[in-house]
Amino acid sequence: MPVDRVGGTITVPGDKSISHRALMLGAIAEGPTVVHGFLASEDCLATQAALEALGVPIRHVPGEPVRIQGVGLHGLRTPAGVLDLGNSGTAIRLLMGLLAGQPFDCELTGDASLRQRPMERVAAPLRTMGAKIDTTDAGKPPVRIRGGARLHGIDYALPMASAQVKSALLLAGLSATGRTTVHSPGPSRDHTERMLQGMGVPVVQTSTGAGHSASVVGPASLRGLEIRVPADFSSAAFFLVAGCLGARDGLLIKDVGINPTRVGLLTILREMGANIELRNERRVGAEPVADLFVTQSELEGIDVPAELVPLAIDEFPILFIAAAAAAGATTITDAEELRKKETDRIAVMARALEAVGIAVEERPDGIRIEGGKMTGGTVDSRGDHRIAMSFVVASLLADGPIEILSTAEVATSFPTFLDVATAAGLNVSAGGDQR
Ligand code: S3P
Repeated sequence: MPVDRVGGTITVPGDKSISHRALMLGAIAEGPTVVHGFLASEDCLATQAALEALGVPIRHVPGEPVRIQGVGLHGLRTPAGVLDLGNSGTAIRLLMGLLAGQPFDCELTGDASLRQRPMERVAAPLRTMGAKIDTTDAGKPPVRIRGGARLHGIDYALPMASAQVKSALLLAGLSATGRTTVHSPGPSRDHTERMLQGMGVPVVQTSTGAGHSASVVGPASLRGLEIRVPADFSSAAFFLVAGCLGARDGLLIKDVGINPTRVGLLTILREMGANIELRNERRVGAEPVADLFVTQSELEGIDVPAELVPLAIDEFPILFIAAAAAAGATTITDAEELRKKETDRIAVMARALEAVGIAVEERPDGIRIEGGKMTGGTVDSRGDHRIAMSFVVASLLADGPIEILSTAEVATSFPTFLDVATAAGLNVSAGGDQR
């Protein structure tokens, strides 16, 4: 298959993490919040539906900005039923924080993948704030929250750098009395902190060699805001790698969020030899944005620095494809969190790479991938959106077609992926049965 036809100018949809936060913070703000560039993917629509069930008026007409009529921290209503967050870890974990201090009972659940993901990492610190919250015996959803708990601020050291847990605790801290401080061993995405500040809530952040911390003082009140959501770096990531593999004349990806807590993949790919330029760097609201220009590159395997792992946490499936294309071996360590994502991304990617002839050595906290010749074959993404999209890009490398099973979940983060991939020059089509 020729690998020199990737090119042109593309845009990818809005950032998933920022879209979830815009809805949630807009919901508990005073006054209206208007969100431009909202990502209308299944995950974010699950958050929208949950907030509507909690009594928040949201006007969402396709193609128009989303308008949220904030009800204030005390304006949420008892939902009529269980809140189903589908596939979304961000939705369920951030909502646990938001709902822990509310006066009503509620129950949160999700699809088969989400019901296998750990929730005690959020529930346990929330309990120390005074929340009455239960998970299953295995610490998984459904999550039951009993209303009427009086929350107080805590000083909590996270065992891992997790933006979801940090954000959940900061959201709970908004309705708690006193200061809530979350310490992390390393940086993690800081969209919650930036948006809270934009809405008038002071967030104190410190960063030292010993780690990072963020704190809020409750009870707080938020002002509605006009929010412009940049294109999602995590969606652009597939095309950065596609560009490295095949954009002889370059591929331009417009208006992408380049928040430093998100762009670990950029550093990693550049260390591997990728030609990526940031053009037209600017700030849009609270977030830095740029156009990314990538040209075909000779990649070389590296040992991925452990401190970059949290900054590239969602990009490992596509990085594994870059590693398969690179000369020599790439090793990834200190990345056991990858086993707790929508799937066990180390195991599912390892089996899928083996299925197309790439040699891997799976390790408890990572993997070693030997760059080499990729064959066609059938891979099972196990319903993991990022794994499915990664193997579409891998098809640029393979000497025969790759069939990808279980791709419907691509709509959880990037419903227009096939169209954008086709516009970028990839040869991809959807089969009949996408499950
Ligand atoms: C997210 C945080 C990350 C990331 C997820 C989105 C967020 O999860 O993997 O896709 O929006 O806060 P962790 O915080 O669990 O690492």
